[in-house]
Amino acid sequence: MSLLVDNIGELVTNVPGAGEGGPLGIRRRAAVLVEEGEVAWVGPAADAPAADGRIDAAGAAVLPGFVDSHAHLVFAGDRAAEFAARMAGEPYTGGGIRTTVGATRAASDGELRATVRRLRAEALRQGSTTIEIKSGYGLTVADEARSLRIAAEVTGETTFLGAHVVPAEYADRPDEYVGLVCGPMLAAAAPYARWIDVFCERGAFDADHARAILTCGQAVGLDVRVHANQLGHGPGVRLGVELGAASVDHCTHLTDADIDALASTRFDCMCHEGGHTTTVATLLPGAEFSTRSPYPDARRLLDAGVTVALATDCNPGSSYTSSMPFCLALAVREMGMTPAEAVWSATAGGARALRRDDVGVLRPGARADLIILDAPSHLHLAYRPGVPLVRQVLHNGVPR
Ligand code: NIG
Ligand code: FE
Repeated sequence: MSLLVDNIGELVTNVPGAGEGGPLGIRRRAAVLVEEGEVAWVGPAADAPAADGRIDAAGAAVLPGFVDSHAHLVFAGDRAAEFAARMAGEPYTGGGIRTTVGATRAASDGELRATVRRLRAEALRQGSTTIEIKSGYGLTVADEARSLRIAAEVTGETTFLGAHVVPAEYADRPDEYVGLVCGPMLAAAAPYARWIDVFCERGAFDADHARAILTCGQAVGLDVRVHANQLGHGPGVRLGVELGAASVDHCTHLTDADIDALASTRFDCMCHEGGHTTTVATLLPGAEFSTRSPYPDARRLLDAGVTVALATDCNPGSSYTSSMPFCLALAVREMGMTPAEAVWSATAGGARALRRDDVGVLRPGARADLIILDAPSHLHLAYRPGVPLVRQVLHNGVPR
């Protein structure tokens, strides 16, 4: 079965040189042919080949599906009361993670699976066709392994975050907990994980512990991403660069040395003018929104040549949103990004952060993951915040 998405007013391809808009590679009056879950052809609507089925985009904008490269969907309970207390003046410290750990351990597999599927479906309706999902609310060997097993039922992008915080029962034995994470927990988690992550932050894991855990993960074939520099300045970003991380996430508090370290990972490539950085800075403005914190300065990173991704950080504590359009709008309004930069970062940027070249882009051979907007242009995603603009999603070529 082939399917033609026809009559596209503005097609964002993320293939630079394919049209206007620099890196967005925008084509006007375009069509996309989909076959067997992949993009088979992209070109002018007037030249579109015949197909078994047809979707009329009616002049609307079509984009690659969003790539949400950072989410924590395996948990039980919520922390609405903690959010309310913050909005009444309490600070966010990450201490609530342990509340969710308690609820997650008490939940059945079926309850966790239902939450993951509900949130995955919610994200897909809002255009996220690729999503990364972390463990990190189990923090026992069995609970981390089952969190990843359940996450792996809905995505290939699974991340072992056994080092989210030191759980209460190890509070005065952090070295022993690091030993558990590097030993039996990693062994149980690795079969279900592609990535390893550590919350490297004061009150969570310091640079030495984080390095030990991340290198153990690398030794069994997991690739590195790091929760870094969220709540204050710290060693996380530079540690991520040192270890060749695909991404350092949050990046809210950065020194010039952090920015220089990220920029030093730049390499030239045909796929993007000015090249990319090996380590991407993934910004998560839902967290600053929901913790009422200052936003990261995306402009500073972009001006230094650092590749930037946007993601939701969807979790019950610091950012309970699955909406990439919401995060994109925040990034434009609050973080100095242009609408075009934010669209790129929420699609191709997320793909870079996951080291994927088959998503976040619409060219022959890519996954047929695309969204049709109820709008004539990608600009409307930031221009019309809070409006459900994703009219239709194609995921692996299948209309959802
Ligand atoms: O990315 N920073 C660490 N982990 C999550 C928050 C987890 C929570 O508060 O439950 C984050 O923001
Ligand atoms: Fe996170």
